[in-house]
This record gives sequence, structure tokens and C-alpha cells, in this order.
Amino acid sequence: MRFTDKVAIITGAGNGIGLGIAHAFAAEGAQVVIADISAAAGARAVTEIEAAGGRAFSAPTDVGNEEQVAAMTATVLAEFGRIDILINTAGVVVHKLLVDLELDAWQRQLDVQLTGPFLTIKHVGRHLMARAASGQPGGKIVNISSVSAMMGRVKGGAHCAAKGGLTMLTKVAAMELAAYGVTVNAVAPGLIDVPSQRAEENISTAYKTRYLQEVPLGHMGETTDIAEMVLFLCSDAARWITGQLYLVDGGLMAGHYSFQGNHDFTLLGGHAGAQGMTP
Ligand SMILES: NC(=O)c1ccc[n+]([C@@H]2O[C@H](COP(=O)([O-])OP(=O)(O)OC[C@H]3O[C@@H](n4cnc5c(N)ncnc54)[C@H](O)[C@@H]3O)[C@@H](O)[C@H]2O)c1
Repeated sequence: MRFTDKVAIITGAGNGIGLGIAHAFAAEGAQVVIADISAAAGARAVTEIEAAGGRAFSAPTDVGNEEQVAAMTATVLAEFGRIDILINTAGVVVHKLLVDLELDAWQRQLDVQLTGPFLTIKHVGRHLMARAASGQPGGKIVNISSVSAMMGRVKGGAHCAAKGGLTMLTKVAAMELAAYGVTVNAVAPGLIDVPSQRAEENISTAYKTRYLQEVPLGHMGETTDIAEMVLFLCSDAARWITGQLYLVDGGLMAGHYSFQGNHDFTLLGGHAGAQGMTP
């Protein structure tokens, strides 16, 4: 129970990775706030978390809209009187070549995945600063990034640009809020098994199979794999860690299997099985 009575806002927690993070915080005693654009998904998340014995509250919010972010922050403060933790998870994905990408689709990705974290850090950050000034330092912020922050992906231009920008937003926020005892870090997941990733139109089986051949541990991650890292970064054990980006990707970013010494594909490591090789 590392987070008893802490108030944790988790954007995009109506589904997928954010929902997994919300469950994990609630299981450790936190009061979680589901700040998802979908009121229905938020209500469903609250029901699920409460059924598991946790405490959750839905505050439907479009993170790309400053008025809504300010209102959500005020609502949470009015309801609970404090905010301890902010996790930026909200995301949308568009798969298009740059030459085909409409400006509004580009803009939407940046609004949700880069401007959103800026706005929540701005509004929640002000509270964390004021809180520290009144003698309660120790706020925690974690931004959910992606391996796409470090690696280009065809048809992922807006996504990669937003996540790349999020790395620098994380570093600047870490520097600006450090004096108030607030840490700001980012977690970069590889492919995680969430319902939206199971839909063939979002991510094809052929793509998944090919992708997993490059993952040394050979399978998709679970939402708990990301939640565990987030909980650690929000725990006292991580008190001296800030401004960092942590990969949780099954080893994807360790290297490319196509780079082999002497081009000898019997020199193996990692997930040889998926490549039809003999370890
Ligand atoms: N699933 C993966 O494989 C994976 C890999 C790397 C990074 N990520 C990142 O993790 C985060 C969550 O991804 P996911 O796969 O769980 O997605 P998901 O689609 O399952 O969930 C995203 C949630 O964000 C909400 N959302 C969308 N726009 C919003 C807005 N404007 N304001 C508030 N909420 C909004 C959606 O309603 C949804 O509930 C994203 O930032 C994504 O880029 C996911």
C-alpha cells in the first residue's frame, strides 16, 4: 500500500494502459481520478475499479482543451482537496504517410499527446508548487511516451513527433519543478496488449508478427508491465530520479536482429524462436 490516500489523476484512463495504471494505483490505496475524453469509458472504469475494492472518480476531460483541463483540476481539488500524482496517458493514433496526413489529423495527435501533457502539467503543476510552498513537497508526474519517441515509424509521423516532443517537455518540467520537490519522468512502452491494439484495422496480425520478431522477449507487454514502472517512479524509492525516459519494451530498442556478427544468423540471442532460428 504505497499510495494510501494519495490522489492520482490519470488522463486517458478509460481504456488500455491508463486503465491498467488506474487499477494499479487503486490497488495500492490511491484515490484515482479518471480524466478521459469519453464519459462512458470513465464511468465504466470507475465501476470496474470500485468492484475491485478501489476508489475512483470520473472527471471527463479533453486534455487538448485548456478550459477543460483547468476545470478538471479545480473539480479534483474541490472534491479531494489535494493532488499528489499526475499520469499523462491519453492518446490517439493515426497511421498515415506524411504526404497523406491531413493537417487536422496531425493537429489532433499533437493536441492530445503533446499539448495535453503541457496543459495538465501547467495546471496541476501550479497546485503542486503551491502545495510544496505550504510544506508538502513530493508531487509526482509521469508521462506515457512510446518507443516512437526514439525510433522513426513509417506512417507514424505525428505520433513520433508528439512523443519526441514529450521527451523534452518531460525534461524541462523536471528542471522547473525540481525546486518544489516534484519529479517528472516518462515511460516509453513497446507494443502493449490492449483492446484497441487487438482490432485488426488498428494493427494487423501480419504487422504484429513481424514486429515481435524484433522483440527479444518475444511477446507483447501487458498493461501491468507499464503500471509497475509508473508506480515505482511515483514511489518514495524513486525520490532521486527526475527528467528521465524509461523504456519498457521487451528489449525492442536493444538492437536489430538484422545486425548480426559476420551475417551469421546462427549467432543468436534473444527471441530466436520467432525468427525460425535455433537457439
Ligand atoms: N498500446 C500500446 O502498444 C502503446 C505503445 C506505446 C505507447 N502507447 C501510449 O500509451 C498511451 C495509451 O495508449 P493505449 O494503447 O492504452 O490507448 P487506448 O486507445 O486504449 O486508450 C487511450 C485513451 O485515451 C483517451 N483519449 C483520447 N483522446 C483524449 C483526450 N483528448 N483527452 C482525454 N482522453 C483522451 C481515449 O478515450 C482512451 O480511453 C498513449 O499515449 C499511447 O501513445 C501505447
